[in-house]
Amino acid sequence: MRSRRSILAVPASNPRFLEKAQTLPADEVFLDLEDSVAPLAKEEARGNAVTALREGDWSGKTVAVRVNDLTTQWTYRDVIEVVEGAGDRLDCLIMPKVQDPTEVVWLDTLLTQIEKTMGYEVGRIGIEAQIENARGLVNVDAIAGSSPRLEALVFGPADFMASINMRTLVVGEQPPGYTEGDAYHYILMRLLMAARSHDLQVIDGPYLQIKDVEGYRRVAARAAALGFDGKWVLHPLQVDAANEVFSPSQEDYDHAELILEAYEHYTTVERRGAVMLGDEMIDEASRKMALVVAAKGRAAGLGRTKTFTP
Ligand code: GLV
Ligand code: MG
Repeated sequence: MRSRRSILAVPASNPRFLEKAQTLPADEVFLDLEDSVAPLAKEEARGNAVTALREGDWSGKTVAVRVNDLTTQWTYRDVIEVVEGAGDRLDCLIMPKVQDPTEVVWLDTLLTQIEKTMGYEVGRIGIEAQIENARGLVNVDAIAGSSPRLEALVFGPADFMASINMRTLVVGEQPPGYTEGDAYHYILMRLLMAARSHDLQVIDGPYLQIKDVEGYRRVAARAAALGFDGKWVLHPLQVDAANEVFSPSQEDYDHAELILEAYEHYTTVERRGAVMLGDEMIDEASRKMALVVAAKGRAAGLGRTKTFTP
């Protein structure tokens, strides 16, 4: 699984931003052909994306392109131009506003045809599906199971809030007047269940108050606590916050590695299944929880500061 703590959105219509994005420590960068690009700039943006993929240095990052959604006239040319032009440099396509599994199947089929034509490895390019309206959320289980290329489901809060008529203009924050609980809880949990039941990653969308890094951190921490793998970033200021929030703390990482080591020792050397680690009882379920935290910590480059002694 790729690390997707921070996913940086960059309009492909802006070559200066495409240069800058290569220098930022985001886990993933996507070159956008959709809503951050004006209709009259769409064609030029495709060419910019191909040039940036071919000539840029994206090493150490996952690199994706977001095409336009299937209700527009642009999608097929987006896919054909970008993948024929630079498919060998591309990890994933992001499909926005997915409402139905057939849309993902369409993209999967088109990708396969282009891969065969170009002599690329068939099936290597992945897909991320953005869920951005009520219909997409109602169909999310079928969407999550629609293609082996799918790697992640992504929440699109701005379009989603518009789609359900939520009464706010501040993306990612609670609607004024709603003081009980979290207005996004159901949506986030619904996406999480669909994603995990198909072994997909699940990503929170953008936070548009880009100068308010504390606000970003607060909203990101909520998604991270539920189990989300990462969140979009729209500005360099948000990148470090995302990487930090979606990595386990040093303390949790050490704890997880200790559980794994202790559990291995007690179950194999002592052949016991439920044992004490300090004041805490651990068993097979503890091992599974620890595996998740340890994997995220290792992916984030954390090192151990504690070792287990029986
Ligand atoms: C992202 O695409 C969003 O609509 O929030
Ligand atoms: Mg959107």
